[in-house]
Amino acid sequence: MSNVIYRDAAVADIPQMLAVWRQFWAPQRYESNLERKIRNDPASVCVAECDGLVVGTVIGGYDGWWAWIYRVAVHPDYQRRGIGSGLLSEMHRRLAARGAEAACLIASPANAAMAGLLRRVGYKEKEDRRFSLVF
Ligand SMILES: CC(C)(COP(=O)(O)OP(=O)(O)OC[C@H]1O[C@@H](n2cnc3c(N)ncnc32)[C@H](O)[C@@H]1OP(=O)(O)O)[C@@H](O)C(=O)NCCC(=O)NCCS
Repeated sequence: MSNVIYRDAAVADIPQMLAVWRQFWAPQRYESNLERKIRNDPASVCVAECDGLVVGTVIGGYDGWWAWIYRVAVHPDYQRRGIGSGLLSEMHRRLAARGAEAACLIASPANAAMAGLLRRVGYKEKEDRRFSLVF
């Protein structure tokens, strides 16, 4: 496998990002916010690029109080190669650079891949499907 690059998403990446998401999720109305999010705050939307393709995504947000992470996804053809971990590390670095001390995300503990990934990188499981990590 070629090297994986973690970089800011660009508006031109949106079709490939949606193609990754469609592997797992039905279309959501709020996805129409993605272009605005990328234009307003490109560093908060990160993609993993491999072989010239967008193969993974992560979105982060920090409001000065809590940091939240959304849409961690890796195309099935590229899973179990460390890309999910790499996306989280990259987003943790970006959020910490903005002053965040911890991050939260919502994931079902029944999602074995996500729960396994989160435990592997040190997240603690809280109530109500919330996982958190102190940087
Ligand atoms: C969760 C997801 C992002 C993981 O991506 P990935 O690139 O395969 O993750 P990594 O290769 O970095 O995995 C790191 C560790 O996480 C754990 N893990 C990953 N996939 C797993 C699986 N299917 N079952 C159990 N543990 C898993 C393992 O400990 C793994 O380390 P190992 O490969 O050395 O055993 C990917 O499975 C995915 O896109 N799932 C669908 C989308 C989704 O559900 N996102 C979360 C929404 S809340």
